[in-house]
Amino acid sequence: MSQNIITIDGPSGAGKSTITRLVAARLGLRYLDTGAMYRAATLHCMRVGIRLDDPKAVAGAIKSLQLDVELVQDGPVRVRISGQDVTDKIRTPEVTRNIHYVADVMEVRNWLVEMQRKIGLQGDLVTEGRDQGTLVFPHADLKVYLFASPEVRARRRFNELKERGMESSYDEVLKDVSQRDHLDMSRELGGLRKAMDAVELDTSSLTPDEVAESIIKLAKGRLAAKTRKIDKSKLGLK
Ligand code: DC
Repeated sequence: MSQNIITIDGPSGAGKSTITRLVAARLGLRYLDTGAMYRAATLHCMRVGIRLDDPKAVAGAIKSLQLDVELVQDGPVRVRISGQDVTDKIRTPEVTRNIHYVADVMEVRNWLVEMQRKIGLQGDLVTEGRDQGTLVFPHADLKVYLFASPEVRARRRFNELKERGMESSYDEVLKDVSQRDHLDMSRELGGLRKAMDAVELDTSSLTPDEVAESIIKLAKGRLAAKTRKIDKSKLGLK
């Protein structure tokens, strides 16, 4: 693979988005948030008005989804449905609650995985999700699996909601986090799993900056080794 690909997978609240963006910006690579693609697919199905618990209806509705994903330097991935920017609209609690119906459907996953691989072919990439290292980019140069205890992730989420002025209770948020873990891990195709060759990083007691710096160090080592290998093979050396 000539493109440099770094995958960052893990459960929700492990700090993937912040950390992946820091890594991408500091290494000058493009950043892809695949969760945004599943969110957009969910919003589309909700708008079409089908029964979300009917996988056939979801597979049918997805055929009319015109999804445009724009990778932005130093910012969140911008997503458009039929030309309309929905970058903020995909972040509502309703969308989050309904994602699992859509993300469980094989036709949806196959379509989005294909789109993600095409994006990978267009240049160097740091990509985050649940299945990036296991399924989408099995030959990635560096695979990272981020995690933190459910309690730590729930506390982060609770504080984030509080900052945004949204009422919630810590116990409710913790229940939500555990439920999403269960849904993400029990998904047959593209479920959340650590790739065998992924580097595991526990983010519980580290700042995003510290985690990003560890990943950057690893990435620089891997990419330098890859360049040396390519140079040697060009010279016909072993
Ligand atoms: O990263 P996020 O919380 O925005 O992702 C939302 C949901 O999308 C997540 O709960 C599961 C699904 N998802 C997925 O199934 N596969 C991915 N590669 C990324 C996200």
